[in-house]
Amino acid sequence: MKTSVIRKVLMALSGAFLMFFLLQHLLINLLSVINPDTFNEVSHFMGYNPFIQFLMQPILIFGVVFHLAMGVQLELQNNKARNIKYAKNNANANSTWMSRNMIITGGMILAFLLLHLSDFWIHEMDYKYISGLPEEAGRYWEELHHSMGNPIRVVLYVISFGLLSLHLMHGFQSAFQSVGFNHSKYTPALKKLGTAYAILIPLGFVLVALFHFFTQSH
Ligand code: HEM
Repeated sequence: MKTSVIRKVLMALSGAFLMFFLLQHLLINLLSVINPDTFNEVSHFMGYNPFIQFLMQPILIFGVVFHLAMGVQLELQNNKARNIKYAKNNANANSTWMSRNMIITGGMILAFLLLHLSDFWIHEMDYKYISGLPEEAGRYWEELHHSMGNPIRVVLYVISFGLLSLHLMHGFQSAFQSVGFNHSKYTPALKKLGTAYAILIPLGFVLVALFHFFTQSH
């Protein structure tokens, strides 16, 4: 098998794993809209369970870095191929805007992630492992609610969720193509599922951010 094909398959598998992460992340965040106490309980469990902290979290970090590194390599490789073969390529006719700009939407999502991790994750790591503050199971909802009170942050988040939608729109469909799955009956249904996922997941995150922004008490 050619290395470019292997790379595409690995890209698809790591992308599928990240999509699964996004789904569970959204479901937990939606709890913050429905019931703050349940959100606090689940967040506390996720934050202190050794299986999540010391196995799933490192796997997630590896998955993100891996997906990013493979994406950059694929882009470089595609650029090289394009320069040689398609000097007069009519890109609009051969591919969608989203498929040609995965590296751009991906880069913007990376910028969002850096902002997002500095908002929540770094604070969390500091709280638990550096400052060693005592467990306080009820603090998560307040922290999330407070950080979504900043209008600049909320605008940046909502723009990022739009870009995430574009990235997922192409990612979901091409993942099946990359692993060689093509079926006359299931492929059209999977395309519909991919479009629904790419719209509903980012929309769910928008809802969470706006809910907290508009329900600030001061
Ligand atoms: C309104 C939208 C979002 C909110 C309110 C939110 C909230 C949070 C919170 C509170 C944490 C900290 C979890 C902890 O205690 O460690 C977190 C972690 C994280 N979030 Fe989000 N998130 C949102 C959207 C997203 C999106 C769209 C992505 C990916 C594109 C994302 C990726 C991550 C990652 C990778 C982590 C680190 C997970 C870990 O703990 O290992 N988040 N998020």
